[in-house]
Amino acid sequence: MENITLNNGVEMPILGFGVFQIPNGETEKAVSLALEAGYRAIDTAAIYHNEEGVGRAIATSGIPREELFITTKLWTQPSASNTERALDASLSRLGLDYVDLYLIHQPFGDIYGQWREMERLYSQGRVRAIGVSNFYPGRLVDFMKHNEIVPAVNQIETHPFFQRTEDQKIADEYGVKIESWGPLAEVKNNILDNPTLVAIAQEHGKSVAQVILRWLTQRGIIAIPKSVHESRIAENFAIFDFTLSQAQMDAIATLDQGTSLFVDHYSVEAAKNLGRIDDIAAGLA
Ligand SMILES: NC(=O)c1ccc[n+]([C@@H]2O[C@H](COP(=O)([O-])OP(=O)(O)OC[C@H]3O[C@@H](n4cnc5c(N)ncnc54)[C@H](OP(=O)(O)O)[C@@H]3O)[C@@H](O)[C@H]2O)c1
Repeated sequence: MENITLNNGVEMPILGFGVFQIPNGETEKAVSLALEAGYRAIDTAAIYHNEEGVGRAIATSGIPREELFITTKLWTQPSASNTERALDASLSRLGLDYVDLYLIHQPFGDIYGQWREMERLYSQGRVRAIGVSNFYPGRLVDFMKHNEIVPAVNQIETHPFFQRTEDQKIADEYGVKIESWGPLAEVKNNILDNPTLVAIAQEHGKSVAQVILRWLTQRGIIAIPKSVHESRIAENFAIFDFTLSQAQMDAIATLDQGTSLFVDHYSVEAAKNLGRIDDIAAGLA
């Protein structure tokens, strides 16, 4: 496993396991399979409503806590002062006394107030690193200009059809690592049958999923693919025994369509739908 060093010196595996859309009751099994396959980084969120399942898998794994890298996310809160309560609720569901990375999940609500609370929780050692998610570049820069701690990570949709090169350039300028969500584009737009990707996969005797994950990690981007299938969980982990050539990286670069396949965070719909408060995710229920 390759690690990436965050801007506060904390080491994070460059490849992890995501659990979005896995029902709580099935999450323990999926995370257990991932831990057995060798993954040590797990990405969940209060709004996924499956932190308990992640926690059960961690508890039964027998893996020392310090060998794991657990990320969870703060959902939009009724007020910034609720931030600690939301973290406490997540930690209780996870059965942990700290998380390795705590992210503001969406760029909506009182994110400046929440960040100051997160800075305080970070200084207390309740979280080893803090970051953001779904921040577009202007939002990220403004956020950094008006806060003390620079986010360690910006977790954003990143895959061959939406490559985020400009986002990465700006993040690099400030020492923020890009973490890809939807690295396989949730297999939309027939990505696994894309002729360019299939040809590269054949050249290496690898799958298209492996080529995409290798392409991301070769760009220095953290990837957190999700699967509930044992064979795919293992497949997605086996990406460090080959290297894409510059010509192959350049060929993949031509696939960029420059727009989201899921949600435009500049849009009114995003503010309406993702800015809502969820009582459980907010730690209020
Ligand atoms: N911050 C955010 O707003 C945000 C948003 C979305 C996601 N995320 C995080 O990012 C993680 C990954 O994103 P994602 O789950 O949306 O999408 P993804 O990892 O791009 O794609 C997951 C889909 O790909 C399939 N799949 C996985 N590996 C495969 C393989 N080797 N061959 C064929 N199909 C394969 C899975 O099916 P099976 O499960 O049936 O195998 C599932 O349908 C999430 O789990 C979550 O932790 C964060």
